[in-house]
Amino acid sequence: MTLLAIETSCDETSAAVVRDGKVLASTVSSQIKLHAEYGGVVPELAAREHLRNLIPVAHAALAEAGIQANQLDAVAATQGPGLPNALLVGFKAAQAVAFALGKPFVGINHHEAHLYSPWISGEPPAADFSKFQPNISLIVSGGHTMIVLVQSELNHRVLGGTIDDAAGECFDKTGKLMGLAYPAGPEIDRLAEQGNPAAFDFPRPLLHDAGDDFSFSGLKTSVRYFIRDHPEMLDDAQKIRDLCASVQAAIVEVLVKKTIRAAKRNGVRCVTASGGVTCNRALRHELARACEREGFTLRLADKALCTDNAVMIGILAERKFLSQVPLLSLDEEIKPGWVLT
Ligand code: KG4
Ligand code: ZN
Repeated sequence: MTLLAIETSCDETSAAVVRDGKVLASTVSSQIKLHAEYGGVVPELAAREHLRNLIPVAHAALAEAGIQANQLDAVAATQGPGLPNALLVGFKAAQAVAFALGKPFVGINHHEAHLYSPWISGEPPAADFSKFQPNISLIVSGGHTMIVLVQSELNHRVLGGTIDDAAGECFDKTGKLMGLAYPAGPEIDRLAEQGNPAAFDFPRPLLHDAGDDFSFSGLKTSVRYFIRDHPEMLDDAQKIRDLCASVQAAIVEVLVKKTIRAAKRNGVRCVTASGGVTCNRALRHELARACEREGFTLRLADKALCTDNAVMIGILAERKFLSQVPLLSLDEEIKPGWVLT
């Protein structure tokens, strides 16, 4: 089957065409520059930008795939969670395309799509990933930080999440305190390469808590007070690199240790990670080291599929379609607060 997928839950307008588990086309138009001026995503601007970009992005995906719209067998879109007006643009447009073509429509949970994104490319191909289940999956993005037990295909249970800020939010907000542009995560990653992660000792929130929940707001506050008390640091490029490395080390240690602990407790053999923060080099490196030490197979989403994209929406939609999950009626609405359970 050939499926068109649309993702507009936050600040990326994305379309993809997938066929039988393979990606025929993927287009992403990022709004990062637009929102950088405001230090974070402005929901109303995001929705307007999706309206402007969606049709060209979808046309480009169809052209890249070399198909006409009437060759599609189904259409999918992110139904939630996400910014309401941003979701509305992609979801309603995708429903309209499905209606016009007389084809089925699939609404997808954005986090569930992140959950399956490590299996989209690489070996073994997605069709074989059931061999690695059950697994523990870390989803770590700008809006969420979750540990999920994936028992079998389309059957998973969220074990823990953040009780305040997400890890990506912590990167972005501490970076803002250092004067870095939004989103600061990639810049902290880059600067930390030449910094000393042991230069400053920041808290590792909930690290020793037995549960699977996270908390990052205390770490952010601690960085805020540290910078308030040592403002001269921000005039010293090496000190900023050390600060980046130290903040990153605190976030990464919590993410890695809690993920590994959950994997051990649940007796799984495989760990996966996805979501924008999974682009972070220190996180990828430390997860790889810990999994090797503990004998877990590690499967990280490709960097291009870590941040928001329609490919993951399409691949999951196709699997849902083939698993006979009931399809949505065309008058179904978006679910901005759709929580993965
Ligand atoms: O998954 P995503 O594209 O959007 C959400 O669903 O939130 O994740 C975006 C987040 C931002 O907070 C961004 O700073 C963070 O991912 N991020 C990174 C890196 N690349 C993106 N954080 C740390 N290191 C990176 N290399
Ligand atoms: Zn996301």
